[in-house]
Amino acid sequence: MTKVITYGTYDLLHEGHINLLRRAKELGDYLIVGVTSDSFDRGRGKLNVRNNVLERVQAVKETGYADEVIIEDYLGQKIDDIQRYDVEIFAIGSDWEGKFDYLNEYCKVVYLPRTEGISSTMLREQTEVVYRIGIVGSGRIAKRFVPESKVVNSAKVTAVYDPNKVSADAFGEEFGLNSFSDKYEDFMSEVDVVYIASPHLTHYDYAKQSLYAGKHVLCEIPFMLKASQVHELYDYAEAHNLVLLEASKTAFCPSFNHLVTLVKSGVIGDVVDVKTSLSKMVCAPMRELDALQAGGAMNEHAPLNMMAIIKLLGTDYTKVDFYSKMGNGVDIYTKANICYTHATASMTLGIGVKTEGNMIISGTKGYVYVPAPWWLTDFFEIRYEDQTKNKKYFYSYDGDGLRYEIQEFMSMIVNQRKSSYKLRQQESIAIAEIIERFNNKDNFQEI
Ligand code: CTP
Repeated sequence: MTKVITYGTYDLLHEGHINLLRRAKELGDYLIVGVTSDSFDRGRGKLNVRNNVLERVQAVKETGYADEVIIEDYLGQKIDDIQRYDVEIFAIGSDWEGKFDYLNEYCKVVYLPRTEGISSTMLREQTEVVYRIGIVGSGRIAKRFVPESKVVNSAKVTAVYDPNKVSADAFGEEFGLNSFSDKYEDFMSEVDVVYIASPHLTHYDYAKQSLYAGKHVLCEIPFMLKASQVHELYDYAEAHNLVLLEASKTAFCPSFNHLVTLVKSGVIGDVVDVKTSLSKMVCAPMRELDALQAGGAMNEHAPLNMMAIIKLLGTDYTKVDFYSKMGNGVDIYTKANICYTHATASMTLGIGVKTEGNMIISGTKGYVYVPAPWWLTDFFEIRYEDQTKNKKYFYSYDGDGLRYEIQEFMSMIVNQRKSSYKLRQQESIAIAEIIERFNNKDNFQEI
């Protein structure tokens, strides 16, 4: 019996796939089809797949050509499969010509003619509703947002707003966008969705105006500096069927999500302590060092660090205290202790003091070590007393990592989901609450 194997995503199954499967089957007597898992596709940057793995497997089965369907879940799996299943022929479409020659060491590699004029990408584009995104602000993060949005379906940045005309025009020219600097209403009339990347203190007003104009809003961190504002805008968004999301980029990263699910499933026992740290040295005259623009280490860095602590320990903390070193009227370093009835947590944040930038999650059976920069999570290790049981996890962190939050935001809009389990509304509110406590100098001590 000649066994043939082939692989693919098989999203929105089309004629090209069917022809390929038929030709592959004709090469032997038994066809194995490897369908990529959702996480494998996400991991290799394929963020736009429409059908989930179960739907794609079902579609492949329904062609009647596959004798067996398996899931492709990791890089290098093809070599394992070929040997495990005693495969004689590896077949793939001619768009991959040459790319799989390395498999010749294990079996015969056949490139089959690809059907011209059709692909899943094409079908996704044809059926796609494109949302026009307007960016408020034209600073560092906004510049990273535009290229990152290009890898996400349904998203097209079309306009920028900045009250500073020179900045708005320069940004518009650099990225080929319409630029607005006068009436915010004019800008909003040209977009469906607003991404707010303006200075901290303007977030609430821009978000409110945008929601009131019926726009979905993705808002940079710090989301809003008062918990009541977050509450109010979530309530408004909910009542008006709009999506409002805090752009806490790490919360939407596949690697960070996996870390949270592993910890929640008990791999280190009960979590007893979380320590996070983040520092980025800043020299005047940057916004981060300006008290009038809500600068300081807490406002800058607490959103991501609190997000991690809250994802791991929950929102029902019982006590928080802050210790800060001040400079230029802002905290250039803050250590915050967050106590729970069942655990403790702390974060050390700096813009004028350098810290290590790692995260350690300690539990009753072991601990997780995430090296700096933990917030760009691409690796972590689970460690035990018995070191032979330690396990390392590696991931790719693509581009600037904003694509994951953009993808979640667009998917919420397209699928009319008003909340994301990756960052729940209550969690965003709790983050804002802690930042507000700090800004009110509750349990605050200068060092
Ligand atoms: N294929 C084909 N003819 C097409 C499209 C795909 O022969 N017109 C083949 C590919 O070469 C591969 C298999 O079908 O062997 C599965 O490919 P997949 O990547 O799932 O399909 P695409 O339509 O190319 O998907 P995408 O546009 O997302 O890359």
